[in-house]
Amino acid sequence: MEENNIILTIKSLSKYFGALKAVDEVSFEVKRGEILGLIGPNGAGKTTITNVVTGTYPKTSGSVIFEDTDISNLKPYQIARKGLTRTFQVVKPLIGMTVEENVLVGSLYGRDKRNTDMKNASKRAREIIKLVGLESKKDSLVSDITLPDLKKMEFARVLAMEPEVLFLDEVMAGLNPAEVEEASILVKRVRREKELTIVYIEHIMKAVMGISDRIVVLHHGRKIVEGTPQEVVNNSAVIEAYLGKRYAKEVNNEG
Ligand SMILES: Nc1ncnc2c1ncn2[C@@H]1O[C@H](COP(=O)(O)OP(=O)(O)OP(=O)(O)O)[C@@H](O)[C@H]1O
Ligand SMILES: [Mg+2]
Repeated sequence: MEENNIILTIKSLSKYFGALKAVDEVSFEVKRGEILGLIGPNGAGKTTITNVVTGTYPKTSGSVIFEDTDISNLKPYQIARKGLTRTFQVVKPLIGMTVEENVLVGSLYGRDKRNTDMKNASKRAREIIKLVGLESKKDSLVSDITLPDLKKMEFARVLAMEPEVLFLDEVMAGLNPAEVEEASILVKRVRREKELTIVYIEHIMKAVMGISDRIVVLHHGRKIVEGTPQEVVNNSAVIEAYLGKRYAKEVNNEG
């Protein structure tokens, strides 16, 4: 029974760049429907794990099991077709196109074969645009929209691919606290409505704490701790490696 609850298993996964062990024997499971926070200092290996799991980089060793299938030798498009996709830390919108056209691209590359039908793909793109609250901007050029709207569009673009598991890599970077709050509410609402599983990479601790059901902490390519947000924020190894004592106090005081 427990087994069915696990949608993604990362098993002794390693990725070396020459002598650098960017990801070093990392193992963790992602439960169906949860938001799993993935945190750690700069260079800890968070983006590299995302790159390997989604097929952007080949692994050095280990395995990635997505719903009973080892996907660790598949290409990115094959993995996306199975329902696992990601955002990029450096956003790459299609400049010169509108919000709707950008989301439509996601829709056309999606999982559902019906989406290759333009009419269906357009319909789906418009539904997703509405879901993230960008209806009034759908005909704007991406070069003309604000950063928060650009982030929403990026979210819409990957949602239009109809993933089951979504890796979000620092999607809130650059937003102010009020915008982070709004984005957090959006992520949680969409997770619920779409029954998504999310791996959420973020440095903004308030967002991580507020969004994540569980958190995995990486440091120098290794997993150092895994637990609930409260367990993680009070863990001495995490405080030492990443949070700093002052920060832990700040988060706890906010309750
Ligand atoms: N393509 C690459 N070639 C060589 N080294 C790389 C490559 N990609 C990442 N690295 C190195 O691997 C290590 C892990 O990097 P990674 O980008 O995964 O960290 P991160 O946890 O995402 O950090 P950040 O919080 O800054 O985004 C770093 O030392 C980085 O310099
Ligand atoms: Mg990164």
